Order: sequence, then C-alpha cells, then structure tokens
Amino acid sequence: MTVHDTGAAYDAVASLYAELFSDMLDTRPLERALLAAFAELVQAHNAGPVADIGCGPGHVTAHLHALGPTTFGIDLSPAMITLAREAHPELRFDVGTMSALDLADGVLGGILASYSVIHTHPPELPAVFTEFQRVLAPGGHLLLGFFAGDDPVPQEFDHKVTLAYRWSPDSLAGLLRHAGFVEVARLLREPHEGERFQQAHLLVRKPQDQ
Ligand SMILES: C[S@@+](CC[C@H](N)C(=O)[O-])C[C@H]1O[C@@H](n2cnc3c(N)ncnc32)[C@H](O)[C@@H]1O
Repeated sequence: MTVHDTGAAYDAVASLYAELFSDMLDTRPLERALLAAFAELVQAHNAGPVADIGCGPGHVTAHLHALGPTTFGIDLSPAMITLAREAHPELRFDVGTMSALDLADGVLGGILASYSVIHTHPPELPAVFTEFQRVLAPGGHLLLGFFAGDDPVPQEFDHKVTLAYRWSPDSLAGLLRHAGFVEVARLLREPHEGERFQQAHLLVRKPQDQ
C-alpha cells in the first residue's frame, strides 16, 4: 500500500465521503470546542496561516477559517481537492502530500490534521512529524485527530476506504514529543452511535526556540 494507493482510494469515494461527512461537525460539540481553542491559540500567536493537511472535501478547513485564522487545505486526492474548491471557492486548496509539503520553513502558524495521519504506515510517521515541525513557525500549534486504541503498538483496522491504523494517544504523543513538540492538551471522546472507536485529539506546540 503506497501513498498513491491512498490517494486513488479517496478519489474513488470523494463524492460519497463529502455527502456523508461534510456536516459532521454539526453533531460534534467537543470537536468544535477544540477547534475554537485551536483557532484562538493560533490567532493569539499570529505567526502565519493554518494548513489543513489531508483536508478531504474541505468542510473542516472552512469551519476553521470562519473562526478567524486564515486557513487553506492540502490533500493527496485530486478529486477531494476539486470538491473542496467547488464547495468553498473563496478558499485555497492544493493537491499535495504531508510527507513532502510544498511550503517554506516556518511559514505556518498552525497545522490541522484531522483523521489524515491514520493512513500513514507507522514507521513513516516520524518523518511526517519532522516535516510538520519544519513548516511550522516557532510557537505554532498542531492539532491531530485520530481513532484511538489501547494497544501501545498501532493497530491496523478495516477502515472503509483504505488501510488505516488506530493509535494509543500515549504512543502518538510519544512520537510527537520525539519530533520536538510539546503537548498542550488531549481529548478522548467515547464513540457516538454508529462509530466504532474512541476518537482522540492531540494538541501540541512547537517550542519557541526551535
Ligand atoms: C479520513 S479523510 C479525513 C478528511 C478530513 N480531514 C476530515 O476530517 O473529514 C483522510 C484524508 O487524508 C488524505 N490523506 C491521506 N494520506 C495523505 C497524505 N499522505 N498527504 C495528504 N493527504 C493525505 C486523504 O486523501 C483523505 O482526503
């Protein structure tokens, strides 16, 4: 399974994904609260825009942008980017991959990665977090959303689109620490009806002196 396969798998389901999930935040008050806190922290620091990496059809990108921080989206799947541009023509969306971002060092005030690192083969995730560090300004924040598990070793599961992994929040927080991030907060939410797993969110910061 390659990054190309992941992009192709999302291309194939892009319209259905947009139909099913574009209004998902309406029923997720805890996620909205965390996004509002993230927006406030990014704006207080005022160090650059936010990239929503693995933005899908752009619904979370638009929600965050409406809260205040200038936000743009990046996704591997050209079909997702087409849908995002159609739904939110006022915003910028680019095709790209999280492991090699087409961004200069230190230009971002924040990164949002909502259920997108779940598809990265676990041994490749440290390099992705190093890339996130590179493009974030000192003091910039990263908000990560993912499916939680108890096992300290990431577990593959039968994700409906393509190969994906569940992570224990402690294990993923450890990787982020190793990449140089400082933890700010975490949220572990029980599954809603129709969801299979606990949902986790980690909010971390790049130190000022890095
Ligand atoms: C589960 S969807 C999440 C979409 C949106 N962020 C949300 O919260 O609904 C995962 C998205 O991440 C994208 N993605 C997966 N791996 C990626 C990578 N290496 N670089 C950029 N985008 C990636 C996929 O194309 C897909 O649109």
